[in-house]
Amino acid sequence: MVDFAAIRKEFPILDQQVHGHPLVYLDSAATSQKPQCVIDAESEFYRTINAGVHRGAHELAARSTMAFEDARAKVTRLVGANAEEGQEEIVVTAGATAGLNLLATAFGNASLGRGGAAAKRFALKAGDEIVVSKAEHHSVLLPFQELAARTGATFKWLNLTEDGRVRTDNLDEVITERTKVVAVTHVGNVTGAITDIAPIIKRTHEVGGIFVLDACQSVPHLKIDFHALDVDFAAWSAHKMYGPTGVGFLYGKREMLEALPPASFGGSMVELAWMDQPAQYMLPPARFEAGTQPVAQVVAAGVAAEWMMNIGMDQLEAHERTLAGELLKMGDIDGVRILGPRENVDRIGTVAFDIEGVHPHDVGQFIDAQGIAIRVGHHCAQPVHRHFGLYASNRASCGVYNNVEDVHALLEALGKVRPFFGA
Ligand SMILES: Cc1ncc(COP(=O)(O)O)c(C=O)c1O
Repeated sequence: MVDFAAIRKEFPILDQQVHGHPLVYLDSAATSQKPQCVIDAESEFYRTINAGVHRGAHELAARSTMAFEDARAKVTRLVGANAEEGQEEIVVTAGATAGLNLLATAFGNASLGRGGAAAKRFALKAGDEIVVSKAEHHSVLLPFQELAARTGATFKWLNLTEDGRVRTDNLDEVITERTKVVAVTHVGNVTGAITDIAPIIKRTHEVGGIFVLDACQSVPHLKIDFHALDVDFAAWSAHKMYGPTGVGFLYGKREMLEALPPASFGGSMVELAWMDQPAQYMLPPARFEAGTQPVAQVVAAGVAAEWMMNIGMDQLEAHERTLAGELLKMGDIDGVRILGPRENVDRIGTVAFDIEGVHPHDVGQFIDAQGIAIRVGHHCAQPVHRHFGLYASNRASCGVYNNVEDVHALLEALGKVRPFFGA
């Protein structure tokens, strides 16, 4: 049995008062808090082994490189990818947004003929199709919309069910022989709904397309195995999985990474550079890691991945499922409308809601005055808000450190909102 009360105590930030109340943090979908071991790992790196990686013959550079690659291996284990040297499938990025932009830019470069014959599978032209879903975060929507604009490809999307799930009943209509790329979120950052990605991936591969997963809201909450899922690429951020900000990861099937042309250029990604001949780029993952990497943050992200695996992703998932069930009770409060699935099935503990007659910002402020942190706004997902007929909403989201008391504090506060505002 995992002692979740003890786990909560590993988060120093949670031990404080806000506006005279004990802090209740229910905004983990925006960013998670960090356990002491992650905070320590970053400062320990700077205190003891700070040096540039993959270059320099001195001892600190060797230790730093080892720590960096060890962190990559830990993150690799968390998501079920290849870790063997020369077969790595995890690229370090600056976050999910950076990883998705890397991909869209690399596909754009392939469309210009870069990367040679091997990269042809990523090339797009007028008449080809890119498919996303209406549930996407702007970090998926915009890079792939831009890619369509640059290449002349047609931009299409999968619609949503009434409760905000990605529809999979008309895949053959939307994903066609002309579809080259399908990019879909694993878990909606507004609805908390887990997308039924298996049929989408199957259909994408049937038509010879490439499937890109936004795993930002799934890696922190669900047991993931990218090989078993058969996704081609997946991007996520460390800061939502108990790791530091400024760092993220891009998974790619090894043969895909080997064929993909680079998207950013500079030091540490090139084997041979000349004045008068084309450069010869390194093999993945180095080919995609131009410039000095955020080594301390990557090392700490590796510690976060190991910390999650030590809890056990099954246990973590079960704990958060209990919290999700409690959160969904907000649907019983007068005037509260849940934006997403109301049943605790195929969803995580992220619940967005609207309170009839009260502006989301007023709700957020009222809740904050009780020491409870929730999200306010469109959560970088405007199309899904339009789907619900709204511009903005509130969102409560759980992490492994939350307990049932946190959720009950929110429910109690929510019950007071409409009476307070006279709605
Ligand atoms: C589903 C989803 N995708 C992408 C992102 C972008 O992540 P980041 O801002 O860490 O790059 C987020 C962050 O909110 C998200 O929730």
